[in-house]
Amino acid sequence: MTTNLGPMFQPFDIHNLTLRNRVAMAPMTRNFSPKGVPGENVVAYYQRRAEAGVGLIITEGTTVNHAGANGYPNVPQFHGDEALAGWKNVVDAVHEAGGVIFPQLWHVGAVRKEGTAPDPSVPGYSPSGLFAPGKPNGKTMSKGDIEDVVTAFADAAHDAKALGFDGVEIHGAHGYLLDQFLWEGTNQRDDEYGGSMENRLRFVVEIVEAVRHRVGPEFPIMLRFSQ
Ligand SMILES: Cc1cc2nc3c(=O)[nH]c(=O)nc-3n(C[C@H](O)[C@H](O)[C@H](O)COP(=O)(O)O)c2cc1C
Repeated sequence: MTTNLGPMFQPFDIHNLTLRNRVAMAPMTRNFSPKGVPGENVVAYYQRRAEAGVGLIITEGTTVNHAGANGYPNVPQFHGDEALAGWKNVVDAVHEAGGVIFPQLWHVGAVRKEGTAPDPSVPGYSPSGLFAPGKPNGKTMSKGDIEDVVTAFADAAHDAKALGFDGVEIHGAHGYLLDQFLWEGTNQRDDEYGGSMENRLRFVVEIVEAVRHRVGPEFPIMLRFSQ
């Protein structure tokens, strides 16, 4: 095993993104944003990481503008004037400390349980109304629901760019909505979004395409997925 950590602390260039080193902070949910609004404590948390020299900060998962996107208490949202103003303060503080930051855009799909904020009456939304094979929860998404969620991701990415974020990460991992489409165990659709690998990928591809369309050719997009 090499003990040479030198390369970790060298700058990293990819396309038009430059990081001051190769240390990236993984997205970690914190539940410190009451009513979905990241406040001063959230600003200070990310600012400390940037001041400590992290090359790339990926924020905690932050929910796109769809009624069923959230699954947990006090998770920050990525829509609405108040929440976006809070995120703007985060970006500015991180940039002032020389950092680079992407928001992680999130929809929890069938992980959502009714009774969760912001509207407790809203069910989970998923490809086939399944939390796991044989475990029903919530609602099977219609094509209209699929379109709404694709648009919500694209809008969030557009807002991220407008706020000054350096890129976006799309949360396609860990059994949440995008992953539920990818996995045949939770995707049992018989339309063009289910069945073959190509079909199960379609929803994620549409999201990436819609995001790219809204942010233009230069803005970095990451996709996190589970293998
Ligand atoms: C408290 C906590 C919250 C997390 N929240 C997220 C999240 O919001 N989005 C995500 O993609 N991963 C999340 N993860 C997973 C981490 O990004 C990371 O993949 C995981 O901790 C494994 O890395 P490690 O072995 O360095 O801990 C979370 C992990 C922890 C411990």
